[in-house]
Amino acid sequence: MPKAKGCPAPTTYLRRPPKQPIVSTVDTYIESHKDRFLNELLDLLRIPSVSADPKFKADVARCAEAVKQRLEEAGLERVEVCPTKGHPIVYGEKIVDPAKPTVLVYGHYDVQPADPLELWDSGPFEPVIKDGMIYARGSADDKGQFYMHVKAVETMMKNGGLPCNVKVMIEGEEEVGSDNLGVFVKANKERLKADVVLISDTAMIANDVPSINTGLRGLSYVEVEVTGPNRDLHSGVYGGAVANPINALCEMIASLHDVNRRITIPGFYDAVQELNAIERKALAEAPFDEEAYMKDLGVDAVRGEMGYSSEERSSIRPTLDVNGIWGGYIGEGAKTVLPSKAYAKISMRLVPNQKSDAITKLFQDHFTRIAPPGVKVVVRPHHGGEAAVTPIDSPAYQAASKAMEETFGKKPIPTRGGGSIPIVALFEEELGLKTVLFGFGLDSDNIHSPNEKYGVFNYFQGIKTIPRFFQHYAALMNGK
Ligand code: BES
Ligand code: MN
Ligand code: MN
Repeated sequence: MPKAKGCPAPTTYLRRPPKQPIVSTVDTYIESHKDRFLNELLDLLRIPSVSADPKFKADVARCAEAVKQRLEEAGLERVEVCPTKGHPIVYGEKIVDPAKPTVLVYGHYDVQPADPLELWDSGPFEPVIKDGMIYARGSADDKGQFYMHVKAVETMMKNGGLPCNVKVMIEGEEEVGSDNLGVFVKANKERLKADVVLISDTAMIANDVPSINTGLRGLSYVEVEVTGPNRDLHSGVYGGAVANPINALCEMIASLHDVNRRITIPGFYDAVQELNAIERKALAEAPFDEEAYMKDLGVDAVRGEMGYSSEERSSIRPTLDVNGIWGGYIGEGAKTVLPSKAYAKISMRLVPNQKSDAITKLFQDHFTRIAPPGVKVVVRPHHGGEAAVTPIDSPAYQAASKAMEETFGKKPIPTRGGGSIPIVALFEEELGLKTVLFGFGLDSDNIHSPNEKYGVFNYFQGIKTIPRFFQHYAALMNGK
């Protein structure tokens, strides 16, 4: 029978209406809730959850409560603010089917101190959107990134449900070393049981060059105190005859690198895993414009360990940097003083196989040994953490790669990152879990720096990509 014009198509052979492809309903949902998704993030950014400074303790607690409420609103269950010896951890989960795989999402709601305040163009906790960027402390690191997961969960729940289980753990002490999270993980192994960890707290190469971090460096952080005479002295009366602890500290620090910019601490490189030529070649394939890099940073040359590229120096090679140095008179004008004490904070970024505690010990021994006569040295260890590498042949990586390829139109490039997220190694050690570093930030986001920013594009791109990860991951794990 010829089909009459304007009549609905015969439905006899269609048992149920055609299902809309999930991704398009997801994108439509995100599009129609754009303003709310953005405003909710701005509200979180208004809370100064600085974990390092006790002055902000109440704000950190308030932020944890806000995160808890957001997790509940997104549809998560068993949501809880878990107290620790330090700042609380917020946890929530949605178990759709115990037989399905479980993704453990980790992030942090604490932020770095905003200092120096005078270098910000607008208040660090008064978020503004300018030229498509959200300016605020924590916008990229990590509120804007972990909140993408909360909105992705909401989106999935409102559009057919989660394709697999999710557990969400957002901590408040990442920026101060995650010591209490380590305790929590060890005490909650059953609750945190999962198949993979998913973290958005890293960067991509560029908005049109998506990439996935496959490694993080470890960290050993120490503070040194050098003491000379038992009191500050007149630099004319005593200068020249008594060791000046600031001069001594500078000599000691200078001696920590040789002419090839290699670190001189005996044994420092012993455990370092060297990459083979194939691995180095693969890394070199990621696009990198050294001229643009120098221009962006306002430097006329790059500098680092001989024999390695800038990308290698900042990812697969260990480093030693002074983060702060002080002592003597630093006020207005000139004061002639030979100070009694000098201090420095020193960080060493470590690569796989180097152990943070062992490196701290090597530093301690060496630094004490090289002290010139007339000064005493004390080395105080701060936090540390181990490096991590993540696999690229796992179903989770494949799912992440496919998801990004769909939303960016390009297959992401695996890259090694230079920053540290110490808990990643602990997830592997304590829970036996591998991580996917699903970061959507950019190196130019100014994290830990004045005018931190996160792209509105990056925020929504993350919210769109995460549900696709869940879809692909559930499908790839089906039957495993
Ligand atoms: N999100 C960063 C780590 C990061 C940034 C990794 C960019 C890769 C690319 C994290 O919040 C951080 O800042 N970690 C600290 C370590 C911590 C122990 C204080 C770091 O790397 O300095
Ligand atoms: Mn972070
Ligand atoms: Mn950080």
